Amino acid sequence: MIKVNCLNPIAKVGMNLLPDTFGTTDNLAEAEAVLVRSAAMHELELPEGLLAIARAGAGVNNIPLEKCADQGIVVFNTPGANANGVKEMVLAGMLLAARDIRGGMQWVADNKDDENIGKTMEKAKSKYAGTELKGKKLGVIGLGAIGVLIANAATHLGMEVMGCDPFLSVANALNLSRNVEIVKSNSEIFAECDYITVHVPLLDDTKGMFNKASLSMMKDGVVILNFSRDLLVNEDDMGEALESGKVAKYVTDFPTKKIANMNNVIAFPHLGASTEESEDNCAVMAVKQVVEFIENGNIVNSVNYPAMDAGKCQTDARVCICHKNIPNMLTQFTGAFAAVGVNIENMTNKSRGNYAYTVLDVCAKVDASTVEKLNAIEGVLKARVIQ
Ligand code: MLT
Repeated sequence: MIKVNCLNPIAKVGMNLLPDTFGTTDNLAEAEAVLVRSAAMHELELPEGLLAIARAGAGVNNIPLEKCADQGIVVFNTPGANANGVKEMVLAGMLLAARDIRGGMQWVADNKDDENIGKTMEKAKSKYAGTELKGKKLGVIGLGAIGVLIANAATHLGMEVMGCDPFLSVANALNLSRNVEIVKSNSEIFAECDYITVHVPLLDDTKGMFNKASLSMMKDGVVILNFSRDLLVNEDDMGEALESGKVAKYVTDFPTKKIANMNNVIAFPHLGASTEESEDNCAVMAVKQVVEFIENGNIVNSVNYPAMDAGKCQTDARVCICHKNIPNMLTQFTGAFAAVGVNIENMTNKSRGNYAYTVLDVCAKVDASTVEKLNAIEGVLKARVIQ
């Protein structure tokens, strides 16, 4: 029985996809797979037997990717699974910034007992007037699954849309509307756009990318939307920009105490992907990816190991090895099978940065001592057999 530990509740529709050979455990120490949403994993001790962690969501800043890679633990995410949920929240965020919807609703709540509300509101409403999105320029920083959906939707609202992504994938480029202008640098977006929305992961390179310098390049009265991560924005610099009117509204899904207390902030409690549909999609994708990895050793949507599609094993056993991307590994793997007279029918090796993954389909059952020998090779992080 493969033991799965859920660090956060995972939608039932996903959990129902676990085969009978899988069961859940509350004890992380005995887990071979972990399913997680936003639980912080950086300080957790990860058990030796842990093979995979799947995040039901896109961002993986709550998971220590390098530590996992070093322990031969493959980490997955679910890109695109909650993209529509986030897209809809960003559109709502732009509308809330453009029109004083909240002010108007508050006025109605404050005046709900007024018999003449139907008349008095006609006088009061001028205070809550706004502008339209049509004709405004939107800049989308990061054209992954979410960014592409937002960019396309905004063109249908009549917005002029610019997008920037140095890592734009072919698949995402093909999904992008031809009405979206792709620009080479964020500074073009900063200089020209009325609304700027950011959809990039939180990395050393992106941390604090909205700061004094970048904010000063923007149009006066710009609206910034951050549904990605709090630390992309330097909050002191944002505070000054809001105070001076440089930024008219900061719409964020990641309030801190400081940000939540600033004027002209529209903040939500990380609601972007909190829809039934997104939670279901993420759970289904996370569970399917983990099961495929555990049962067949194939890797789809990992964030720390290369993709691997070796199909289904057609021989007696499949050996899966997470290892360092260093010379002489394959010779040692093949040597271990040559030493016991076992033929290797198929072998696939893929690398990603400092790490690599090798799958060998062999023509005999593999005993524990061979797996032990493979695990003892310097640079091997985790070897296991599926048979
Ligand atoms: C994500 O990373 O996918 C979103 O922020 C939503 C979430 O964390 O659940």
